[in-house]
Amino acid sequence: MTDTPITVARGNGIGPEIMDATLEILQAAKARLVIDEIEIGEEVYKRGCMTGIEDSAWETLRKNKIFLKAPIFTPMGGGFKSLNVTVRKTLGLYANVRPCRAFHPFIQTHHPKMDVVIVRENEEDLYGGIEYKYTPNVTESLKLISRPGSERICRYAFEYAKANDRKKVTCMVKDNIMKISDGLFYETFLEIAAEYPDIESERYIVDIGAAHVAARPETFDVIVTENLYGDIISDIAAEVTGSVGLGISANIGDEFAMFEAMHGTAPDIAGMGIANPSGLLLGSVMMLVHIGQGDVAETVHNAWLKTIEDGIHTGDLYKEGTSTKRVGTADFKTAVLERIGDQPTKLSAVSYGEGKGALVMPPLKERVDAQRKLVGTDIFVYAKDKNVEVLASDVQPHLIDGLELSIISNRGVKVWPGKAPETLCSELWRLRLMGTVPINGTHVAQQITSLTEQGLDIVKTHNLYKFDEENGFSKAQGE
Ligand code: NAI
Repeated sequence: MTDTPITVARGNGIGPEIMDATLEILQAAKARLVIDEIEIGEEVYKRGCMTGIEDSAWETLRKNKIFLKAPIFTPMGGGFKSLNVTVRKTLGLYANVRPCRAFHPFIQTHHPKMDVVIVRENEEDLYGGIEYKYTPNVTESLKLISRPGSERICRYAFEYAKANDRKKVTCMVKDNIMKISDGLFYETFLEIAAEYPDIESERYIVDIGAAHVAARPETFDVIVTENLYGDIISDIAAEVTGSVGLGISANIGDEFAMFEAMHGTAPDIAGMGIANPSGLLLGSVMMLVHIGQGDVAETVHNAWLKTIEDGIHTGDLYKEGTSTKRVGTADFKTAVLERIGDQPTKLSAVSYGEGKGALVMPPLKERVDAQRKLVGTDIFVYAKDKNVEVLASDVQPHLIDGLELSIISNRGVKVWPGKAPETLCSELWRLRLMGTVPINGTHVAQQITSLTEQGLDIVKTHNLYKFDEENGFSKAQGE
């Protein structure tokens, strides 16, 4: 059997310690790998590269297609981009798969039966990083949800469930508030769920869903959700299993895949030799299954399970009574190495056969089409210390034929006509202008020109469309 080329990055903080342990165990288990190392993250940022990754590293990643990555430090502020997000998006790693299971009674948890897999959309949502500051005191972050993006992740969740003999997929959204964006995600989920009648499907509003993940995680099987919700829910789920040090994160695309631990660089314990390498090691097990080395994955995973059930635990897992020995990273690695070839006797042993390999996904469905009609425009205006009645009377004489002022809102709340005295207003106002006759882009352009000439400081505009007579825009609170 030929060796599989993979790219490895040792990362920052505890990254090098846990990667060394992981690679040594993989080698001892006779993983058939050719390893190319790249340097990304902290040192590369320090060299002035704002993305934390240089062209030569991209070449290696593109050549090998499979990436085993230790955690990376992302500098805060200063225009630096999150390397993790960049890699996921550039390589089209749309599915983030995060299995979280309990290892009761060897690792203490209140939820001994929990075994949940979170399938998190990895490219869209608020992670577009599309943010603006419009006025000195008002900012915005754009949440993008697309039908193909939602379709791909929902289908991935069902295909994953089918391939791994899972019985139920739960969709978590907040479509009672974000009726258009989360509404689209849920609508797409329902369409895809209908194609898998043998798998149960259900929906939770994400806030109560997250609470249930914390309180009764054993009721979930596979959870599919948007990017930010998935980020939060999977950290909760990992913590509930006993430690964030156990969390695994597989990032899967059609061509590329990246495997890592769920946790970060743990700067508080970096260099102390006490980090738990389990998240990265179990991430590498998922990698081995993905590349068709199920035999090696099985060897590594069973050796790890045996170590855990023997009570040999790093400090994050160690509990008087359940653990037998508290060890650092190197001794934990040695314990796993000593158990290569062993099977757990109390925890269930895993069996991957030859490895299922990567899931093969069908092509995306045809995009939906609809009759799209421009019916109005929202014009956002920066006006400091402005009385809304004055603003309305400033605007109204300068409306062009065919457009009327329907409402003014502030921070999403209708404030004209009829502002409640209690409503807090910022300096960014939204004028909602609706067409009284059929309108087109020229009307909007003329209106912007006319209001600008009157001295209004227009920050941005949003066109308002109907799709087959259904509004493609939300109403303001109170509209
Ligand atoms: P963190 O996950 O690094 O640490 C949170 C807490 O968990 C700390 O108390 C830490 O000691 C502990 N912990 C984490 N991993 C552990 C392990 N393997 N063994 C034992 N204890 C462990 O999260 P934090 O502090 O928010 O982030 C630190 C840095 O990591 C930041 O620069 C962040 O950008 C980066 N980060 C990178 C990620 C990646 O590369 N995928 C993911 C998350 C954060």
